[in-house]
Amino acid sequence: MSYNVSVLQYLPALLKPRENLEKVAAMIQDLHSDLVVLPELAFSGYVFSSREEVAQVAESIPGGECFNALRELSRSRAVSICYGFPELHKGEYYNSCALVNPDGTYHVYRKVHLFYREKLFFSPGDIPFFVCEAKNGIRVGMMICFDWQFPESARSLALRGAQIICHPSNLVLPWCQEAMKTRSLENRVFSITSNRVGTETNGDLSEYFTGGSQILGTKGEILIRMNETEEAIYTVQIDPELAANKQVTKHNNAFGDRRPSMYFLP
Ligand code: ACM
Repeated sequence: MSYNVSVLQYLPALLKPRENLEKVAAMIQDLHSDLVVLPELAFSGYVFSSREEVAQVAESIPGGECFNALRELSRSRAVSICYGFPELHKGEYYNSCALVNPDGTYHVYRKVHLFYREKLFFSPGDIPFFVCEAKNGIRVGMMICFDWQFPESARSLALRGAQIICHPSNLVLPWCQEAMKTRSLENRVFSITSNRVGTETNGDLSEYFTGGSQILGTKGEILIRMNETEEAIYTVQIDPELAANKQVTKHNNAFGDRRPSMYFLP
């Protein structure tokens, strides 16, 4: 069975969620897809200079302007949407992402491996990697940006049965897009990495984001990869059931041949 899956790449404005929501809503307006992945911190911007700035744009789920708008977009466009947002939960801020589904269900993942200055504002995620259902029962696992550096993230999602890894990102280092080929290949799963573009400046702070958003197949093949600067949305047709096939050769299975008792995993 084939489904359409999409990746969106754009340049959000720092601390202007309403403006960013309007831009993304316009990009999604004519989308015909089952699942679309948006960047990490998709509507808030990334280069925070203080906890006060995070507080200005953080949302508690369910509720909040972005969550409500995305849920409505999901319903009206009949598409599952995965997007990153700053979450306020029990007095702590998390760098989170949500999957919102057309039937109103939703799931939240909190970034486990925080990157660089994120550690000044966010608490590390407290929910072990999990798999949940998007539209049409597609099994997705979520991880955020720098989680790619730790192979255990994608491996955990794949072992739990993910068919597609949704990977909202704000990438600043040059390695992730290529490394994700290996994450997809070694786990035999699809992956959708949505990055942002542009330079974001906040006082003395500045980051350049590398674009290159992509959808990869279960053998690490590039189904679509954007360039470093474009603002766009691309859709490809995939069969998520291909992720059930972990066979590498007639005599090798990517999961069946694992030897956990030989590994050092403190
Ligand atoms: C990152 O984790 N945003 C690089």
